[in-house]
Amino acid sequence: MKHSPKVIDKVFWSAYTRYAETQDMTGAEKQRVEQVLSRLFEFGASAPQSVLDAGCNSGAYTLALAMSGFKATGVDFAPGLLSSARRRAAELKVPATFEKMDLDKVFWYADNDFDHAICTSVLHAVKRPEWVLDELHRVLKPGGLLIITLWLDPVKHREAFPEEFTEPAPSSNNPGGLIARARQAAKSLSEGKRRAHYWTPAEIQQLLTRHQFEILQSQGAPLHTVVARRA
Ligand SMILES: C[S@@+](CC[C@H](N)C(=O)[O-])C[C@H]1O[C@@H](n2cnc3c(N)ncnc32)[C@H](O)[C@@H]1O
Repeated sequence: MKHSPKVIDKVFWSAYTRYAETQDMTGAEKQRVEQVLSRLFEFGASAPQSVLDAGCNSGAYTLALAMSGFKATGVDFAPGLLSSARRRAAELKVPATFEKMDLDKVFWYADNDFDHAICTSVLHAVKRPEWVLDELHRVLKPGGLLIITLWLDPVKHREAFPEEFTEPAPSSNNPGGLIARARQAAKSLSEGKRRAHYWTPAEIQQLLTRHQFEILQSQGAPLHTVVARRA
């Protein structure tokens, strides 16, 4: 099936909006999913190609991919999230596949198994990002797209991307919203206890290039999106 705005609007988004409403999905989350989907189409993906959603959580992106006609597989290491993803897929009668997989340990899939992959807001959390990218490269077909999103550190990256940050900088007078406060709290933990790493756009681009991905697009803040093509 070739991408046409009509298909996305009529088939996918009406179904997806119903899903988002029943799941209390916020407008912001829906927008994030929409952006990843539209970038896939923009850079040449078309249903029914296969897409791996690495770190799928409770399946928002995987279900959206499946609803728009892709053969979608979501993997995560959290069994509770996978149960919820499978329940949603069954309720929606969406043919998405969900599998338990620790991205740091093993990728079950054969070489060149997937046409494309997404890994949204996950690379900050894995212990072995180099290995994860090696494996994503291995399981993708040559020419396959990889879309990565990363949350930028609101303090560290504000100066580099002033036009991208529309909210005021957090300060002692203005500690910011819940997410900003949670991030500040996480930062106050000692380095040794912190697992999350805030990648900079430059770091992630270097990492991807080292792992034989060509960068096609790298933009946005505080959620930064990188579109890359597997060499
Ligand atoms: C911040 S959430 C992002 C979820 C989803 N991709 C999104 O953009 O909304 C990070 C996800 O990565 C998963 N995750 C983190 N480390 C993982 C690992 N080593 N193996 C598999 N999943 C992992 C978590 O369980 C969680 O679902």
